[in-house]
Parts: sequence; C-alpha cells; structure tokens
Amino acid sequence: MNSPATIPMTDGRVTIRPISLDDVTQTYVNWLRDPEVNQYLETRHTEQSMASVGDFVRAMISSPDQHLFAICVDGKHVGNIKVGPIKHPHQLADVSLFIGDRTAWGKGVASAAIKLISRFAIRTLGLKKLNAGVYGPNTGSAKAFLNAGYTQEGLRRRHFKCGSDMVDSFEFGLCAEDLDKEGNER
Ligand SMILES: CC(C)(COP(=O)(O)OP(=O)(O)OC[C@H]1O[C@@H](n2cnc3c(N)ncnc32)[C@H](O)[C@@H]1OP(=O)(O)O)[C@@H](O)C(=O)NCCC(=O)NCCS
Repeated sequence: MNSPATIPMTDGRVTIRPISLDDVTQTYVNWLRDPEVNQYLETRHTEQSMASVGDFVRAMISSPDQHLFAICVDGKHVGNIKVGPIKHPHQLADVSLFIGDRTAWGKGVASAAIKLISRFAIRTLGLKKLNAGVYGPNTGSAKAFLNAGYTQEGLRRRHFKCGSDMVDSFEFGLCAEDLDKEGNER
C-alpha cells in the first residue's frame, strides 16, 4: 500500500507529487543557481550541483519527517514544495517552496501548491500548525501564503541579510482549525 506521501494531489491544474531522483536534472540545478529565483532562498549560500541536489533529494525521500513534492503544471515540473521538518511533540512543521521555472510565475501556481500541501499536512499527516517565514521584499510569496489561507502572525525586524540590506521576516501561520472539514480554508 502507498504511504500517504506517495499519492499525487491536484486541483485540476496544479499537481504536487512526491519528488523522485529522476527529477534531479540540470534544469533543477540551474533554477537554484538563478539569482532571480534564489535571491530569497537559503540555498543561495551553498554551491548547487547535480551531486548536492541529488544528496538533498535522497535525504528528503528517506526522511520520515520531511515531505518534498515536485510542483507540476500540465505535467511539467516547475518547482518544489516541502513540509518539514515535523516537530512531532507539537504536531508542527514548516512549509517552504520555490517555483524555479520563471515562465510559471504570476499564474497562481504557488498559491495552489501551498493550498494542496497544507491540506495534506493537516488532513493526512494530522498536523495542527504550519509555519512559513518570508523575506519582507518577497511580495509574491507573502501573497501566495495569504491566498492559501495563512495569517501573518509576526514580523522579525531586520532578520535576514539580503544583498547589502537587512530585511524583515514575515512569519505566516495556518492552524488546523483554519480549514473546514473539506480541507478548504474557512
Ligand atoms: C515567490 C513565488 C513563490 C511566487 O510564486 P507564484 O506562483 O508566482 O505566485 P502566485 O502566482 O500564486 O501569486 C500570488 C500573488 O502574488 C503576486 N505576485 C507574484 N509574484 C510577484 C512579484 N514578484 N511581485 C509582486 N507580486 C507578485 C501575484 O500577482 C498574486 O497576486 P494576487 O493574490 O493579488 O493575485 C515565486 O515567484 C518563487 O518561487 N520565487 C522564487 C523563490 C521564492 O521566493 N520562494 C519563496 C520563499 S518564501
């Protein structure tokens, strides 16, 4: 029988499916090397290569506390989204994502993927709380979390170094109670 995280989830247009080693391509590595894509990602601090991305994906696939999904539009892999690490005593986890294919930006893909993974995390994994940290200037990401039903719960002032600036971090959260029994936000 499939474990919960092996089942693809879709809203009809955007699908998230468990990542596989076949997804580790030079295109994926190039996404992480693209300064427009990685400007608000912690991955920019380390050299990205087929080997390092392969090691990361292998580690995610074997981890019981992390669920990494490929985000696909019309069957095409355009980015990734992750829930984890799970803090079991609190039934709590972080959600993070990137859309690497810039031609897919601004089309509601992130908003849809966040909705899908959040429903999975709460309804299937039984988590009670999801958190996400967003660099202050990353308006697209902040709006995508709001579109998916998250609430801005906090702001860490001048928290991240971004170029030569210190920028704020917006803290977003979604509680299990924010979803109704169909898994949609109230
Ligand atoms: C930020 C990111 C996730 C947004 O993904 P997306 O699929 O383009 O987001 P959506 O299309 O769902 O857009 C959500 C909202 O943000 C707006 N938006 C998207 N990109 C934007 C940008 N660069 N500037 C301002 N607004 C933007 C959209 O118009 C939409 O607005 P609406 O709710 O008023 O309709 C994507 O650009 C990305 O992955 N960037 C690189 C990595 C990254 O920053 N990851 C997030 C780390 S927290």
